[in-house]
Amino acid sequence: CKAHKVAVLPGDGIGPEIMKAALKVLTAAGKKEGQTFEFTEALIGGAAIDATGSPLPKETLDVCKASDAVLLAAIGGYKWDTLPAEQRPERGLLGLRAGLNAFANLRPAIVQKQLADSSPLKKEIVEGVDILIVRELVGGIYFGQPRGFGINDKGERIGFNTDVYSESEVERIARVAFEAAQKRGKRLCSVEKSNVLEVSQLWKEVVIRVGKDYPDVELSHMYIDNAAMQLLRNPRYFDVVVTGNIFGDILSDEASMLAGSLGMLPSASISGEGPGIYEPVHGSAPDIAGQDIANPMAMVMSAAMMCRYDLNIPKVADRLEAAVNAALDSGLRTKDLWKEGTTLVKCSELGDKLVELV
Ligand code: NAD
Ligand code: IPM
Ligand code: MN
Repeated sequence: CKAHKVAVLPGDGIGPEIMKAALKVLTAAGKKEGQTFEFTEALIGGAAIDATGSPLPKETLDVCKASDAVLLAAIGGYKWDTLPAEQRPERGLLGLRAGLNAFANLRPAIVQKQLADSSPLKKEIVEGVDILIVRELVGGIYFGQPRGFGINDKGERIGFNTDVYSESEVERIARVAFEAAQKRGKRLCSVEKSNVLEVSQLWKEVVIRVGKDYPDVELSHMYIDNAAMQLLRNPRYFDVVVTGNIFGDILSDEASMLAGSLGMLPSASISGEGPGIYEPVHGSAPDIAGQDIANPMAMVMSAAMMCRYDLNIPKVADRLEAAVNAALDSGLRTKDLWKEGTTLVKCSELGDKLVELV
């Protein structure tokens, strides 16, 4: 049968290291199920700036649009941190998400049983946690206008951004979240700041209205500050969480500490039509780049989400997830998760082990 066309965007920092490992594992898992992939590598982020002057060359967006799915590792790094906002690597990623209209970012935060005592929180608090954060990804304060720098009445410089959502933007992400909840624990918590922000008042009203179409889902509402606290106090309270762009960004990094490491959280950024972007929650980790010590599991599990959501090859996804599970069972740990009694492995070594285990 035909090869699945995958745009491969390694990006910066640990990006190329974890991508290399993940592609090996994905290829091996595919082979076992008679599936092949056609990988087309393209530039994004700092690597693209260095080669072309732009963090998202037109060619990259074209390659992505012509693919069945996009696999992206991570972008950014110290070298590009002093560039003006519109030229930074991060803009490449935001432009890609907007360019593919990938408005729904699904970020599962699952505590693997082997890692329940690897969290900085107590085992009794985190074991059994299985949360799906549904983060709106192409709106809110990340994209709102006006934005920029200016001068105030006192002649001081100011910086400003606008947090804005339209009813239709809230409605479409709410539907994704309600539908996800229907397939899981049937509980949805909408997180906002409607006690202060108009944008959140509108958000809450629309979510309540959309909820009428999903009477089997129990809807609750929480302010972001309380949600950040409840996520640590009683994380099993949460089933599906739906929230805006910036709150979802922050809550998902926080949730990674339930799972033990940011290197464990995958994500899918999808529109429901056209190729989705499959990307770990973490960034390019410039502090550990080039040392072959990054955890590739979030990248591998992002590839699994790609197989399930876009490529429609759930058996390959199952194999990838089972391999991660088996590696954890046999005590293999990258540095972020290593402790006494487990076996320390490099990123590339773990990639090779996962190839044996798929
Ligand atoms: P980060 O997620 O890159 O790293 C935060 C911490 O987690 C670091 O100590 C890092 O070493 C560790 N870490 C992250 N992923 C890991 C992995 N797979 N294995 C082991 N340890 C891991 O966040 P940051 O340091 O705030 O940002 C670094 C750069 O990455 C910035 O330029 C930022 O803009 C960018 N960034 C990109 C993405 C993305 O491409 N999706 C996401 C977040 C941040
Ligand atoms: C993420 C990252 C990005 C975001 C940055 C790099 C633009 O933090 O994917 O979580 O804020 O969305
Ligand atoms: Mn983030």
